Amino acid sequence: MTSTPIELAATMRGGTKDYGSGDTAVRALDGLDVDIARHEFTAIMGPSGSGKSTLLHTLAGLDRLTAGQSSIADTIITGLSEAAITQVRRDNIGFVFQSFNLIPSLSAKENITLPLDIAGVDVDPAWFDEIIGILGLGDRLTHLPAELSGGQQQRVAVARALVARPEIIFADEPSGNLDSKSGAELLGFMRRAVKEFGQTIVMVTHDPTAASYSDRILFLEDGRIVDEMREPTADRVLDRMKQMGH
Ligand SMILES: Nc1ncnc2c1ncn2[C@@H]1O[C@H](COP(=O)(O)OP(=O)(O)OP(=O)(O)O)[C@@H](O)[C@H]1O
Ligand SMILES: [Mg+2]
Repeated sequence: MTSTPIELAATMRGGTKDYGSGDTAVRALDGLDVDIARHEFTAIMGPSGSGKSTLLHTLAGLDRLTAGQSSIADTIITGLSEAAITQVRRDNIGFVFQSFNLIPSLSAKENITLPLDIAGVDVDPAWFDEIIGILGLGDRLTHLPAELSGGQQQRVAVARALVARPEIIFADEPSGNLDSKSGAELLGFMRRAVKEFGQTIVMVTHDPTAASYSDRILFLEDGRIVDEMREPTADRVLDRMKQMGH
């Protein structure tokens, strides 16, 4: 019998990241091996300072490893020029951060299509309509960010990440600034994007409920992966966090 190889959207081998030097040096990532499977929703959890954001940023090519190697899709980005990495990011990656990073003077619609407009790529109208419909933004497209609620602004940020159908979406605490209802809606949508559209998502969170929307959780401690959990539930995540001394 042959088994289908797991397709990987991103990888890291021996990923090490040091900040600073000498007495103030901090090893934020300590030789990580990570595989991010395509069409999966991966959550990254761990105590404050354990290296979650650093892992996200180095996987996404926003920051460079000190040692080791990482790849996005089939491209090893380690050692590429800044311009080349920027191109790989543009072609493959969508970002959703805790702060929504919307341009205040642009409408919701203009914010959503901005990455494609910059890249000179046409927006697929059917795909745009589908995203907007599911995110419930249809009657908000002409509004400025300041005229939207926090949850609506975050959904605009998610739509902006999805519109180019990126290979991977990286999200750092995307529901962190939202009330629990808006957060649940957003996470539910991210889960649908994975299940129904085959989107790949990597999300940092410290919230067990948020993490329970994922397919797999990687637990970080002191810059190392100390555990992993498949098909998590909030209760099991909470138990695991208690063991880790939270
Ligand atoms: N730019 C930087 N310069 C120096 N040290 C840094 C820098 N960024 C992160 N660090 C350090 O690296 C370690 C990992 O930080 P990181 O931001 O990845 O943690 P985190 O798990 O995302 O934490 P949090 O849950 O608080 O967001 C920490 O000790 C942090 O102080
Ligand atoms: Mg962080």
